[in-house]
Amino acid sequence: MKLNRRDLLKLGALAGGGLLLPVGLQQRSWGKEIYRGGNFPQDNDVDPIDPPRPFQVELPIPPILQPTRRDATTDYYTLTQRVGRKQIIPGLPATEIWGFNGIYPGPTVMARRNRQVIITQRNQLPDNVSTHLHGMSTQHEFDGYPVDFIKPGQAAQYKYPNLNQAATLMMHDHALHMTSTHVYRGLAGFYIIHDELEESLPLPKGYGKYDIPLIIQSKYFGPKGQLLYEVQGNQGVPGNTILVNGAPFPRMQVANRKYRFRMLNMSDLSAYIMRLSTGDPFIMIGTDSGLMPERKIVNNFRIGAAERYEFVIDFSKYPIGTQIVLQNLWDDITDPSPVMRFDVVRQEDDPSEVPVKLNPEAARIMNEEFVPANAVRTRKFEVGRNGGIWAINGMGWDTQRVDATPGNGDIEIWEFYNKAGGWWHPMHIHLLIDGFKILDRNGKPPRPYELGLKDTAFVGQNEHVRVIGKWSPFPGRFVFHCHNDYHEDHDMMSQFEVIGR
Ligand code: C2O
Ligand code: CU
Ligand code: CU
Repeated sequence: MKLNRRDLLKLGALAGGGLLLPVGLQQRSWGKEIYRGGNFPQDNDVDPIDPPRPFQVELPIPPILQPTRRDATTDYYTLTQRVGRKQIIPGLPATEIWGFNGIYPGPTVMARRNRQVIITQRNQLPDNVSTHLHGMSTQHEFDGYPVDFIKPGQAAQYKYPNLNQAATLMMHDHALHMTSTHVYRGLAGFYIIHDELEESLPLPKGYGKYDIPLIIQSKYFGPKGQLLYEVQGNQGVPGNTILVNGAPFPRMQVANRKYRFRMLNMSDLSAYIMRLSTGDPFIMIGTDSGLMPERKIVNNFRIGAAERYEFVIDFSKYPIGTQIVLQNLWDDITDPSPVMRFDVVRQEDDPSEVPVKLNPEAARIMNEEFVPANAVRTRKFEVGRNGGIWAINGMGWDTQRVDATPGNGDIEIWEFYNKAGGWWHPMHIHLLIDGFKILDRNGKPPRPYELGLKDTAFVGQNEHVRVIGKWSPFPGRFVFHCHNDYHEDHDMMSQFEVIGR
């Protein structure tokens, strides 16, 4: 009998494997029970197959969505959410997915700061959906509030002012109690904001050429190529096959020069610790809410669900023919597993550079605005289990209940306490136009690659994480939640209401 990743994880958990390991490895502690279902009732008795052999497939790049029209102020788009099919696992039939325009990952929307985008979302799926643009600061009615459903056969318009700095955002489903299965099926895609500051920098440029989006998702597949939704230990779906832009453990041909990558983890709950097989560094340049004040050079970085990290890899030192594997150390720090591979295949000039100082606007916000002396209050949220559910301050979601009422423009400190071992929660807050700054984690500074503006903060086991941000610019109700989607659905989500103006 072959052991798949799930069995290995169980063994690892039983043996307490990895608990003594150095890089803060967060061991999973799966419960025994396996739950299959959600939107996959037809596959209740099918076991996941072993992951395919890595590096068989070229890295795909999601296509850029074309506007249906443009006028002086606005770009207009239409997306149809529908069932599609995609060849994912080599040698197996195509996989049924749910996608924006029927493709997975969805097409990428390119936006400009301060130029409005209006997207019409049409729902041709058999379920209610609610579409959220993660990282966008927009009015309540356009935020994909979890019960603002677009019913099957209906459509809705979303207005995005793009007041945010240049950043990597993502569109994904947010329907109450169904986000996990919907995103798992494929309702996720990039939305990239550019601005003048970013364009003035000599960073590698050109979407899909030297500026590469990478959406990471771990999934299970059945023997007919079908997606399997297998929840383990009431935690979520860990998956055994890492897809990058929808391809399993792909390879990418690169020139011997610098590339910019925008990495997004949209797994159901998996976190990763990324490193390069050569041991060479990543030049970290961006976080969830935009470019960092300064670049940071690291040998590995952790990425939890919904986090985005942007980094540059310089392939110029490698001879043509070199293969560099992007590896994951999360499951076993002594035994890296592959994510994807870069094959250096050609010679090219490289006019790009990575300046030390990148973003004076973020530097000003982080050093002058988001400082504890400016906070008008502090709120505490305990995240963890309460009986059968995942909870915030012991409570699950209640559409009628509001747990915080900041004034519009208030700077606040929010503290997240995870008093349990075994589980981590990437906590995400909607609306905040500049995201937030992580002040500290268990009293210690955040990791070097977290020294940028973020909208999702990794709260590890037994951790107490403090973030500071400005609750603005729109009044109304917005959610905050754990972005392990299964946790969010069951029921680690709450809301705040911004009061006034
Ligand atoms: Cu990525 Cu509440 O969302
Ligand atoms: Cu969001
Ligand atoms: Cu969680």
